[in-house]
Amino acid sequence: MASRYSLLGIVLNVLFCVTTNAEVKPYISTEAEYRTECKTCPRSLCTNTLYYEGGESLNATCWTRGTKIMGDRLWLKTESECYVTQYDVLEYDGDYTTDLAYCGKKSEEQHLTLEDATLQYKTECRICPSITCDTVSYLKEDTDVTLTCWTDEDTQIIIDDPYWMKTTNNCYVAQKNLYSKPDITYLDNCGPIPFLEVLHHWNENGTSDVNKREPDALSLPVPIEQSAQYLINVTVGEEYAYCRYCPEDRCRVKKRYEFDQEVWLQCLVDTNGTWWSETTDFCYVKNSDFWQSPEGDYYRNPLCERFEDPDEDDE
Ligand SMILES: *[C@@H]1O[C@H](CO)[C@@H](O)[C@H](O)[C@H]1NC(C)=O
Ligand SMILES: *[C@@H]1O[C@H](CO)[C@@H](O)[C@H](O)[C@H]1NC(C)=O
Ligand SMILES: *[C@@H]1O[C@H](CO)[C@@H](O)[C@H](O)[C@H]1NC(C)=O
Ligand SMILES: *[C@@H]1O[C@H](CO)[C@@H](O)[C@H](O)[C@H]1NC(C)=O
Repeated sequence: MASRYSLLGIVLNVLFCVTTNAEVKPYISTEAEYRTECKTCPRSLCTNTLYYEGGESLNATCWTRGTKIMGDRLWLKTESECYVTQYDVLEYDGDYTTDLAYCGKKSEEQHLTLEDATLQYKTECRICPSITCDTVSYLKEDTDVTLTCWTDEDTQIIIDDPYWMKTTNNCYVAQKNLYSKPDITYLDNCGPIPFLEVLHHWNENGTSDVNKREPDALSLPVPIEQSAQYLINVTVGEEYAYCRYCPEDRCRVKKRYEFDQEVWLQCLVDTNGTWWSETTDFCYVKNSDFWQSPEGDYYRNPLCERFEDPDEDDE
């Protein structure tokens, strides 16, 4: 019985397709509801061909399936030969899958370049690679990541390095935070990347696929302080600055920095009202030993505790 029912289903489907094919339109004019990336393939990890501003008009020429965004796998190809998630365009009072042609099986393929890397320092993984972009997750030193593409266009320069890499968790890490520079000849360029906000591009109720908007270590998007020039570069303002195993005066000294020495900082700790910073030597210096005030608004350096795994105690 079951096979007869499914056979009937196929027959009905074929009839349905034949009747609706007659009404397929060459394109449907619409506009982007939010700023949205138009990609080389219909997946969030695919590189960008261009992006549309919110309110910008576009013509959708065919539909395909790709990364599930907010519960929906439907993506549209535009007249610029790239793909946008239908979630980011104005609501359509109809059905794209009957009103437009299917883009074809080939359009569903994902082409990604991949390269493994490991983080040397605590790293903010951001939704886009510039200073005001939201942090999607806080990754600890020694976290393994997989890189998919690189960019050095309009990025935040970290110490002296403008390169950022997109990871397979769909956020960007600064090259400076990696143990070694990846060989970008094996990686795609990410293409033009717009300013994105977690507000419009997040994984509500877990309805998007992991390779879209899901942060990796933490499951909630936390649009906290507009953070900063991280790692930051400061200089020692005392004759010596002692770098300790923990952020208290009683802790053992791991390293001693000298007057005017340049030190790179990862994050901040508040010990009973006294600010300390963790350096790239993984020890802590009192902020008052530096010329600069790393705890100040200018730097907006993150708190070290943000990088702690909230689930660690349960494991
Ligand atoms: C959409 O197609 C129409 C007809 O070819 C054209 O007039 C219009 O400029 C196109 N819109 C965009 C955004 O390309
Ligand atoms: C660190 O900062 C100092 C002072 O602002 C600057 O002269 C130096 O070039 C910086 N070092 C790097 C590696 O950016
Ligand atoms: C997420 O859950 C809330 C509350 O249950 C609901 O109102 C909202 O529509 C859901 N969003 C999606 C995209 O499913
Ligand atoms: C912080 O303050 C509390 C309460 O005043 C005190 O018990 C504790 O020892 C202090 N810790 C440090 C590291 O100074």
